[in-house]
Amino acid sequence: MMKSSNTRANNLEVVRQWALKQFSLGHSSIHGPDHWEKVYENGVMLAGKTSGADVLVVKLFSLLHDCRRENNHYDPDHGRRAAENLEQINEELLHLSDDQLALLEQACAGHADGFTSSNPTIGCCWDADRLELPRAGIKPKARFLSTAAARKLI
Ligand SMILES: [Fe+2]
Ligand SMILES: [Fe+2]
Repeated sequence: MMKSSNTRANNLEVVRQWALKQFSLGHSSIHGPDHWEKVYENGVMLAGKTSGADVLVVKLFSLLHDCRRENNHYDPDHGRRAAENLEQINEELLHLSDDQLALLEQACAGHADGFTSSNPTIGCCWDADRLELPRAGIKPKARFLSTAAARKLI
């Protein structure tokens, strides 16, 4: 049991290193690794309170969703770019089932489009990111949150 959870943790670190290699905006970027870490913590917390959420997909979202950003400002397609690579790296790095991969692709592709989702996994991903909007001076609004757990926090 212990061994398998360590293996998963090590694998997440390998994914994080891969994401850092893709990321061109530097460690201090507002969309960089410090932000990924906060989204990870938010996502684990929300997934623990959201029935049916797949916490592994949420963790991977946190590490990957912003790694293909090309600037720190207006980059509306950065989520779709992040989603483009996932199928290629699944076998070697992510080890997701087809259903999990599809969820991660949808969560990454659509995370910056301003929608909510009734899917618990995608909802936790998007809310974990939106709870970090205050870093950009934006207050999260309940109507842009998907999960009850996140709405309770604002
Ligand atoms: Fe983003
Ligand atoms: Fe983000």
